[in-house]
Amino acid sequence: MDSVLQYIQDHKQDFIADLVELLRIPSISAQRDHAADCRRAALYLIDLFNQIGLTVELRETAGHPIVLAKYVNDERLPTILIYGHYDVQPVDPLDLWKTPPFEPRIEGETIYARGATDNKGQFLAHIKAVEALLKVQGEMPVNVTFLLEGEEECASGNLEKFIKENKDELRCDVVVVSDTSMFAEGMPSICYGLRGICTEEIRVEGPNQDLHSGIYGGAVPNPAEELCRIIAQLKDAEGRITIPGFYDDVVPMEEWEREAFAALPFDEKQFKKALDLNGSHGESGYSNLEQRWARPTLEINGIFGGYTGEGSKTVLPGWAGAKFSMRLVPNQTPETIDRLFQNYVQRIAAEYVKVSFKPSGGAKAVVVPRDALFMDEAVEAIKKGFGREPVFIREGGSIPIVITYQEELGANTLLIGLGQADDNAHAPNEKFSLRDFM
Ligand code: BES
Ligand code: MN
Repeated sequence: MDSVLQYIQDHKQDFIADLVELLRIPSISAQRDHAADCRRAALYLIDLFNQIGLTVELRETAGHPIVLAKYVNDERLPTILIYGHYDVQPVDPLDLWKTPPFEPRIEGETIYARGATDNKGQFLAHIKAVEALLKVQGEMPVNVTFLLEGEEECASGNLEKFIKENKDELRCDVVVVSDTSMFAEGMPSICYGLRGICTEEIRVEGPNQDLHSGIYGGAVPNPAEELCRIIAQLKDAEGRITIPGFYDDVVPMEEWEREAFAALPFDEKQFKKALDLNGSHGESGYSNLEQRWARPTLEINGIFGGYTGEGSKTVLPGWAGAKFSMRLVPNQTPETIDRLFQNYVQRIAAEYVKVSFKPSGGAKAVVVPRDALFMDEAVEAIKKGFGREPVFIREGGSIPIVITYQEELGANTLLIGLGQADDNAHAPNEKFSLRDFM
């Protein structure tokens, strides 16, 4: 093992150079203009796998392609499936980036670029680990399948289909994913729970065009105002979601888990300070970690409509809209939650406006049992690699495909985050520590 670690040290600059190349590709999955870039990222990964001698294929989907690479030592050995995503989130607001998002900048031991932590840097660490093992030892005592997709940030709809159609090829004993974060710097963590997600967009329409607010205002319903009225009725003063039935399927938190969360070294003051918050606000009766990891939520992701440009424009807009994400916990399903959301909004909306919906996919939450296959080995590996025991955490983000591994392949996922919670995933100046990478 020492010579493997030596190989890694000796190749640090090469590894970083490959990371930089990958980060230069603007593989934004949500934006059609970047479809070719997504393919370029996939092709770049194919090259990397070829260089280290894995059998690799580009597999087409209805959307961005999947990269499937295999190392088979012996069919009788356990197979580990390593999953990651080469797609990234959009970059705006662009003006808040210190340097352009796809021109990676290294400052000390930190690399800045969109996708640095989420998820290119994190999965590349696994590819490089396999490279080092194969180059130095010639073989590994397991089979390894790499499954890298380009639509995680769009809910992985096409990957789900791919998995259902290719179960045999993807058969594995365990899935390993580094797309979460450590609880704190230097505190390696195993994440055993992720929230699910259900996204929605609503559009409220009033008059058939924008109108002069002086000529028509007073007699014509304003869709932006009606949108606000709808939004204001989605939660009560206690921070509870008011959609009837929303909590019906929620499995309540157990006492042992509430105690375990409370025992983690979480500093609420520090949390507020880092975000420049005057106070925190959430569902009453639950701690900060409970609210973020184990309770369902509804967030407005954006509100739009009317004139928001420079100066004033006295207009009564013809329409207004908003995007929402609801985070789910076991046993909520995105289908049911979406139906409840639509029914409720439809019911509370005034009859003088038209409301339409545009859902965009979702996923169920996942909890990995503590006695999952290879969980103990993961703990041992982390002890060796980091010199300390991992803490067990849950997280509030979603990795839509993880539940599919459990349900379709019968494999549990070990979520071993290498990044930090403040790596600015989805935000300007996303970064990844090269120490975490190494
Ligand atoms: N890496 C995140 C998931 C994550 C974030 C896990 C924070 C743990 C903590 C992933 O890339 C992601 O952002 N997923 C999306 C999925 C959605 C767009 C369907 C998310 O959670 O918003
Ligand atoms: Mn992400």
